[in-house]
Amino acid sequence: MNIGQDMQKDILKVLISEEEISARVKELGEQLANDYRGKDVIVICVLKGACVFFTDLVRNMDCQLEMEFMAISSYGGGTKTSGVVRIAKDIDTSITNRHILIVEDIMDSGLTLSHMKKLLESRSPASIKTVCLLDKPERRECDITPDYCGFTIPNEFVVGYGLDLAGFYRNLKYVGVLKPEVYSE
Ligand code: PRP
Repeated sequence: MNIGQDMQKDILKVLISEEEISARVKELGEQLANDYRGKDVIVICVLKGACVFFTDLVRNMDCQLEMEFMAISSYGGGTKTSGVVRIAKDIDTSITNRHILIVEDIMDSGLTLSHMKKLLESRSPASIKTVCLLDKPERRECDITPDYCGFTIPNEFVVGYGLDLAGFYRNLKYVGVLKPEVYSE
């Protein structure tokens, strides 16, 4: 890896601009508020990638909701695409008979969200839905699609607006494609 000091210089191109994200997040927030108004909904942020999207999304949802935070880590073969996840930080409240909306930055293989949904379903919520800012359907390894999606994107190495490489670039205001020399060995 070759992560530079100037993060902007490591970006090949802007894939989704700050303005495009902001407009789409506003739309999604309004749609979700309409769908969840009057319901008892808990919105769960999956740390860390979803943190930026989550904070913008909930502020565009003009309805009553509770926020929870969950951290998961992958294990089994040491790769995240194993999809076998362990809860590193659990939510602080019971979800029995409550509506759950899981917020993710990206659905890639789909294994993380698939496994998370199974974990939460065992706690008997009223419903579980997912909202992902980005969807990369070309990479899917299981039968799952986000219930709500910001943008469908091609199979490129993207960072920014929460997405990282080795923990960096999450604070970019846009979603950009990384220059290959940054992530290649
Ligand atoms: C990313 C992302 C999703 C998952 C998607 O998390 O935030 O949770 O990978 O990949 P999948 O669809 O192939 O399972 P990551 O493990 O990189 O952790 P992070 O959120 O802390 O960046």
